[in-house]
Amino acid sequence: MRTSTTQVTSAHAATPPQAATPPHDLLSRRSLLVSAGTGAGALVLAACSGGGGGTAGTTGEGGATSATSAAPSGTVVTATGDVPVGGAVSVQVDGAPYLVTQPEEGTFEAFSAICTHQGCTVAPGDGELDCPCHGSRFDLSTGDVLGGPAPSPLPRLAVTVSGTDVVTT
Ligand code: FES
Repeated sequence: MRTSTTQVTSAHAATPPQAATPPHDLLSRRSLLVSAGTGAGALVLAACSGGGGGTAGTTGEGGATSATSAAPSGTVVTATGDVPVGGAVSVQVDGAPYLVTQPEEGTFEAFSAICTHQGCTVAPGDGELDCPCHGSRFDLSTGDVLGGPAPSPLPRLAVTVSGTDVVTT
């Protein structure tokens, strides 16, 4: 039985540009609704309730970055089979956008999809992650900036594989 809560919104195809929005207040509360037993594994999320504080993650100057999530450890982010090898899939975790990537078969990574430039939602690209707003490009394996105006990598969300699912750690 699944105990988690994500929603796949697109896979490997660029999504249309979205209006620039400020970084989403990440997960000030656990607002995840648990939905179990849907055949396709599609799950429902509650919207984040307001509250202040919170950023898409922490970024250091030239240092490692990490995304934070209030989702409990073991929250299913997506099914491994939904992530193309050499590509990525867009998901929502606790109401915030993330990208789950599979740079090599069996290797999964996850990053905040909130662009570090001006906060647009980064989408899966052709072997990379692409921001539709000003063209920043990010590495599938590391979230590092490959090009464009983004000043820092996409914050990483720690995930692992559990059975056939990618889950938070
Ligand atoms: Fe992503 Fe500007 S907001 S490149």
